[in-house]
Amino acid sequence: MSDQNKNEVEIFEDEKQILLDHDYDGIRELDHPLPKWWLITFYVTIIFSVPYYLAHTFGGAQSIQEEFKSDVKTAIKTQAEHEAKEGGFNEQEYRKILATEKIDKIAKKTYKRKCKACHGKYGEGGVGPNLTDNFWLHGDGSIATVYKTIHKGVVDKGMPAWGAKLGKKKTYAVLKYVMAFKGTNPENAKEPQGKEYK
Ligand code: HEC
Repeated sequence: MSDQNKNEVEIFEDEKQILLDHDYDGIRELDHPLPKWWLITFYVTIIFSVPYYLAHTFGGAQSIQEEFKSDVKTAIKTQAEHEAKEGGFNEQEYRKILATEKIDKIAKKTYKRKCKACHGKYGEGGVGPNLTDNFWLHGDGSIATVYKTIHKGVVDKGMPAWGAKLGKKKTYAVLKYVMAFKGTNPENAKEPQGKEYK
């Protein structure tokens, strides 16, 4: 490095204080202090790391994977609770609705209008499965699982979700209608689908 080169670098007056005295092939360096906000952040992370390290190494704190698993568990539980409350079969409500007037008429009419096209006049099946046998694709044929299928549908398989469309009264009415199909052996019954439950 020649003096000649060194002299070519213009050093401003206010930089002289912070100019470091090394020289890398003509490249000089100013010692700019780091911004305060950056330093504070940096020190805070260092301070934070101490209890964090201790808690996770010796304190038995949950790892991210464990935290995720327990969050998923909570979510599933919350969902189940919500379903039980909002969408699940409620025996008391069912009985109350069945006791209302003209419920059988409502049931028959609803089935004819909304279900017959796919499940047949007598539940013998068509586009949709036979509802008179002991074979079920969803659930085990118990009233609660049949209710669930009607209420939520199997939308990606072509069974609409009826709960919101029909409302509680008609949904329970048509549920009763469907439950009464069991063991009726109609003509032209569609072949069994799903698993057998006796
Ligand atoms: C557009 C056609 C269609 C209509 C309308 C329809 N369903 Fe379905 N339903 C299906 C299909 C298709 C399935 C089978 C879904 C599958 O393969 O998972 C099904 C399945 C079911 C099941 C479950 C059967 C099993 O084996 O688990 C029940 C119960 C049912 N429907 C009741 C009803 C009722 C009650 C109505 C009227 C409110 C209705 N469905 C209207 C097409 C229909």
